[in-house]
Amino acid sequence: MKEMMQKLRDAALQAILESEDVDSLEAMRVKYLGKKGELTGILRQMGKLSPDERPQMGQLANQLREEIEETIETRRRALNEAKLELQLLQETVDVTLPGEKHPMGHKHPMYNVLDQIKDIFIGMGFEIVDGPEVELSDYNFTKLNIDEGHPSREWTDTFYFTDDSRICLRTQTSPMQIHAMETRPLPIRMIAPGRVYRKDEVDATHSPMFHQIEGMVIDKGVTMSDLKATLNLVVEKIYGKGTVTRFRPHHFPFTEPSCELDIQCHKCGGKGCPTCKGEGWIEVLGAGMVHPKVLAGCGIDPDVYSGWAFGMGLERLAMGEYKITDLRLIFENDVRFLEQF
Ligand code: DAH
Repeated sequence: MKEMMQKLRDAALQAILESEDVDSLEAMRVKYLGKKGELTGILRQMGKLSPDERPQMGQLANQLREEIEETIETRRRALNEAKLELQLLQETVDVTLPGEKHPMGHKHPMYNVLDQIKDIFIGMGFEIVDGPEVELSDYNFTKLNIDEGHPSREWTDTFYFTDDSRICLRTQTSPMQIHAMETRPLPIRMIAPGRVYRKDEVDATHSPMFHQIEGMVIDKGVTMSDLKATLNLVVEKIYGKGTVTRFRPHHFPFTEPSCELDIQCHKCGGKGCPTCKGEGWIEVLGAGMVHPKVLAGCGIDPDVYSGWAFGMGLERLAMGEYKITDLRLIFENDVRFLEQF
């Protein structure tokens, strides 16, 4: 029996020391020391021994159990340490490797143009105001002297929210004139940039959503020459000194008189080319003297106060400045396009 134990010991210790992972160590514990294990098997035969031998063998068996358990434990520790060391080695961070590059975003070209315009007007003492894109038709049309029946109020042109056409997506930033006059103390010098909406099909020059900037001055003694001088200055700042302008008579319901401002084509100098579509001039904005009816409707006495206003499309400006030929590029936000600015 002693010999059997000796054999068991040699086999067990060797197997344990040769084992390569923690799982097989556990299997060995079961194999040698488990209830149905080899040592138990040997001890079952104790009955055959004489009463003198039994305690001796019992003691030997206990020693052997302890020795095997200790060996398993030692091996387990060694295996775990080796595993940790390997992991540390594999996960070493090489601080000398170059870092991962994250692409930097930047401002959209249209917002570059907008910021440039804001700077110009802030420099002249204007405030920047913001207002709703979902608007009462009263503000988008009626208070701007655009009565029921005017073509721009048609359902084919305007996005309405209600069957009675009371609420719409603003079709222009001009309702900001009304908001400003109703809420701000006089005198007023403001610009209001923002999104506007019209039922236009998408093509190279149209989109159902686009941007405008509204501007307005209300004070005592304001005249058309203030309008012309200010807008000429703005045009020079945007398009460069010496840019030739032309104020062409036009009609807007909310201004009287009204005009459109053209700049002489900077490409051909007025001779006519593809940039100006052969016209020699490029339309930049609409403007005029705020209609006395509009002033009065906002509680401002037109005999004491007067004002001028303008509205300008932002996309067209950005397209001109950055030589963008298709409006859709401005909204697609393809980084290959945006990265160029
Ligand atoms: N709201 C006009 C449009 O969308 C542009 C405009 C014209 C605005 C004359 C004005 C203005 O303030 O005085 O076509």
